[in-house]
Amino acid sequence: MIHEKRSDILFSENEYRVIDDVRKIVGNKEQRYYIETFGCQMNVHDSEKLAGMLTAMGYDNTDDLANADIIIFNTCCVREHAESKVFGHLGALLPLKNKNPDLVIAVCGCMMQQKDVALRIKTRFRFVDIIFGTHNLQDFPNMLLQTLQNRVRVFDVHDQEGSIVEGIPTKRTESVQDFVTIMYGCNNFCSYCIVPYVRGRERSRDINNIINEAKQLVLNGTKEITVLGQNVNSYGLDLNPQIMFADLLNKLAEIEGLERIRFMTSHPKDVSDRLISVMASCSKVCNHIHLPVQSGSTKVLKAMNRKYTREDYLSLVKRMRDAIPNLEITTDIIVGFPGETEGDFKDTLELVKEVGYSTAYTFKYSPRTGTPAAEMDDQIPLDVKKRRLGELNDLIANMIIDQNRNYIGKTVEVLVEGVRTNKDGEIVSYGRTTNSKMIYCLRKAKVGSMIDVKITHVRDVSLYGQLSDYVK
Ligand code: 5AD
Ligand code: SF4
Repeated sequence: MIHEKRSDILFSENEYRVIDDVRKIVGNKEQRYYIETFGCQMNVHDSEKLAGMLTAMGYDNTDDLANADIIIFNTCCVREHAESKVFGHLGALLPLKNKNPDLVIAVCGCMMQQKDVALRIKTRFRFVDIIFGTHNLQDFPNMLLQTLQNRVRVFDVHDQEGSIVEGIPTKRTESVQDFVTIMYGCNNFCSYCIVPYVRGRERSRDINNIINEAKQLVLNGTKEITVLGQNVNSYGLDLNPQIMFADLLNKLAEIEGLERIRFMTSHPKDVSDRLISVMASCSKVCNHIHLPVQSGSTKVLKAMNRKYTREDYLSLVKRMRDAIPNLEITTDIIVGFPGETEGDFKDTLELVKEVGYSTAYTFKYSPRTGTPAAEMDDQIPLDVKKRRLGELNDLIANMIIDQNRNYIGKTVEVLVEGVRTNKDGEIVSYGRTTNSKMIYCLRKAKVGSMIDVKITHVRDVSLYGQLSDYVK
């Protein structure tokens, strides 16, 4: 759907007035927040916004639950056991609340968009003060104000996504690499996936807001930006005028001081020739793509509503490899989707070998209430799913080790993300190559610098090397 006129909302005076009201209540008292984030990078970013708003309200961060005056669980519902994990964590908070009745406990995120789960939390955990969903994060200061002022429980989950809210204060962890969300929601309705139901339809951010945020990050020291969305390749198609994702990458590449651009996640059906050509020609755009395949069987892909066949996927991989030197591909795979036969599973193993992924995130299919796949016949028994997952993981682990051996003797450029002492007491600098290989260098190097590392050996699945100047 194309919006006639985009109407983004700015987090502004009204919201800051509420923030001031909370600040007055907090006063000079030392107040601390603890946020636990479950799930994907989108949730991590939402937590950065919660942290930003809390900082503006006068709260400091703590990593110690027992020390916190407000505890927030930012939940996810995409994969297995999410619910029991959150329920377990919540149960453990009761003694803290008994000890400190002023403690505020809030639960938010995707899982709260599932009405039945939010209701169960509300009734089962009566000590939870605030529940909200993914669509009204910006209202959090107001909910907190109501709780602090009136000692009431606040539940505010919106069914529908609203406008994009720009300018929410954000507290980022200082780093040479950062994430920028470029779009929210998903229109794809893969039959196993809950995301379109809990995150709503695709909404792209205005390109100027994205560029300004990226420029600000670069001014603060960021060298590498990963742009985020459930399906970044359809970025801009809902904007008026439309903008192509590849053009957004080109615009980002113009930012001086920004050295690398990554993006995640790409739906294979939407990877355009323009994107491939920008990846091939623009040196700042990294030679890595996360391209979830989910299954190697065309029959299963159809049941998953993925809208491509095994052959389509393999031909896309070939076109990309032909165009982009040293491209590394990573993926997501689900085993044990309803109706998956041994033959279908073998198709997945064969495809994995053929593509030669540099890593893969693998999952046992887990039914999500409300999705079509949860209602499908021929659900696969748990022991079969476990066995298939084990087989797939073994294949991938061996493949990665073999692939990594090919790097021995090569010199690669690494953006240093950090320095630490490893378990053998060695000082190692670590960071990634353009194609997203994590490299450990046995020397101290400046965080944020680009170094050339000659790969000398593989330990388990990790690549180790020396600064190339030091290698004789
Ligand atoms: N069961 C198992 N894995 C799932 N994923 C999403 N939904 C499910 C589910 N119901 C996996 C997909 C997706 C990744 C983020 O999580 O592989 O790409
Ligand atoms: Fe879920 Fe499919 Fe959308 Fe990814 S593309 S978020 S798997 S519905």
